[in-house]
Amino acid sequence: MIQLEIILIFDNYFFDDFKRFEHYSLEINTPDGPFLFDYSKNLINKDILRELFSLCRECQIEEQRTKIFQGELINFTEKRAVLHTALRTPKDGKEVLVDGKNVLLDIHRVLEQMKHFSESIRNGQWKGYTGKTITDVVNIGIGGSDLGPLMVTEALKPYAKNGPHVHFISNIDGTHLCETVSKLSPETTLFIIASKTFTTQETITNAESAKEWFLNQAKDLKYVAKHFVALSTNTQKVTEFGIAKENMFEFWDWVGGRYSLWSAIGLSIVCAIGFDNFQQLLAGAHAMDKHFQEMPLEKKFTTETHAILPYDQYMHRFSAYFQQGDMESNGKYRTKEGKQVDYTTGPIIWGEPGTNGQHAFYQLIHQGTKLIPCDFIATIETQNPIRDNLHHKILLANFLAQTEALMRGLTEDEVRLNNNNSTDQLLIYHKAFRGNRPTNSFILPRITPFTLGMLIAAYEHKIFVQGQIWNINSYDQFGVELGKQLAKVILPELDANQSVTAHDSSTNGLINFINKYRKWTPNNK
Ligand SMILES: *[C@@H]1O[C@H](CO)[C@@H](O)[C@H](O)[C@H]1NC(C)=O
Ligand SMILES: *[C@@H]1O[C@H](CO)[C@@H](O)[C@H](O)[C@H]1NC(C)=O
Ligand SMILES: *[C@@H]1O[C@H](CO)[C@@H](O)[C@H](O)[C@H]1NC(C)=O
Ligand SMILES: *[C@@H]1O[C@H](CO)[C@@H](O)[C@H](O)[C@H]1NC(C)=O
Repeated sequence: MIQLEIILIFDNYFFDDFKRFEHYSLEINTPDGPFLFDYSKNLINKDILRELFSLCRECQIEEQRTKIFQGELINFTEKRAVLHTALRTPKDGKEVLVDGKNVLLDIHRVLEQMKHFSESIRNGQWKGYTGKTITDVVNIGIGGSDLGPLMVTEALKPYAKNGPHVHFISNIDGTHLCETVSKLSPETTLFIIASKTFTTQETITNAESAKEWFLNQAKDLKYVAKHFVALSTNTQKVTEFGIAKENMFEFWDWVGGRYSLWSAIGLSIVCAIGFDNFQQLLAGAHAMDKHFQEMPLEKKFTTETHAILPYDQYMHRFSAYFQQGDMESNGKYRTKEGKQVDYTTGPIIWGEPGTNGQHAFYQLIHQGTKLIPCDFIATIETQNPIRDNLHHKILLANFLAQTEALMRGLTEDEVRLNNNNSTDQLLIYHKAFRGNRPTNSFILPRITPFTLGMLIAAYEHKIFVQGQIWNINSYDQFGVELGKQLAKVILPELDANQSVTAHDSSTNGLINFINKYRKWTPNNK
């Protein structure tokens, strides 16, 4: 495995190559207008790119790319295929076989089920237990069963006309549930319980509590079936809960949580924006899949991204979404062969919408000691062009200016000139910017279901390519298990009457401190 080191040496790329933008940007046509990816403000030139591509070849990106689309078991520690790309393949697309069965048939059967269900919610045919139509849909899930639908319904809010209000409960903190349902009526609320196994601790606890809230008013258990549906594969647990079998929406073990919004997990999205718009989302992602599959390697480029900065308020959960997508995929310290890596893998992903971030953490990006590559995302048109686009133009100007500032910096000479040829050297030091901060810019025509689908899929493929380069398995997530197991041990200890001694002294000390001052009555069983 060769390692690539990009050393920060070039101040003058843009002076040496006036056609950088032409050389290092990519325009893709979409039915909603052109989609632009500009990577010219990266620390790259022809030589570095050539090395990167040979690195990609050495890491067998092209072979692996074929395998993923064909349903090979690339989630190899779990012996599973990884087929979110199949979820957005049209019905008449090239068949995808898992255990000799074409999964496209299953996928489109469930999509059809989602279509009918969402239509009956949206057109008012589905009635609650008192005969009223549903006005509010609450998705209860966590991680992939929450972040994807939440991010997309927020991003596509302008498309949510005529649909129910959609809410999301994920946190086990009772505040999340209480604050959400306090504004709702049990008569007009429908809950979607999203848990593959129907055993996820947070989700099932929240679901049981939602049922309690509902039954408090509805009284009769038989009404549960009118107000609860499930996204799951565990028929037994789902029906035990009181949900009708026909209202269970299936997905498969080759759909990973963080890649699941394209599956039945997207049901809340369909309820919010309607089935046709959901299909556009799938179509956009599929277009990006084709692009990813068919383009020769030389036309693509990825960089280790850290900050994701959408200059669009509707996209305010986008960085949080890929915080999971990327960090849960590539936060690994062993290679596929089990060797400990001696290089850095998955980056820390974070970000906030512009321009809020500018008033918060950009200082560190501009003048701090860490090199933080940033992705900037903006749209040409806004959905809310108030005051003759004044807000939007200010937003765009800031978006453009930040990438320019990060790239060019400000030399001491420039600072001196800007300050009346000041001789105050200390001030000049503090006001200078080193520049050379790499950025990518994505410009979308607008955030539409199609363009959003493309953008999400592009990030998914980036995660894959990086995982290949680092030679890690991007598709398991054992790193989330240990904490879960320890929490199961600690839960009953929060009802202990005696001092807890089973852990290290810090953990014992923390538990005993809480137990000493707790107000709840212990209910040890
Ligand atoms: C890999 O397989 C495991 C076990 O089925 C599953 O929990 C995980 O989500 C899978 N990952 C992906 C990305 O499909
Ligand atoms: C530069 O000098 C002029 C005239 O003395 C003054 O008006 C101006 O505020 C100064 N600018 C800065 C940045 O110090
Ligand atoms: C600063 O110095 C430059 C170069 O010596 C000169 O051209 C410019 O007029 C000076 N500016 C001020 C405000 O004195
Ligand atoms: C702990 O104390 C509570 C309340 O005093 C009591 O109901 C419970 O049985 C006790 N549990 C044990 C394991 O002693």
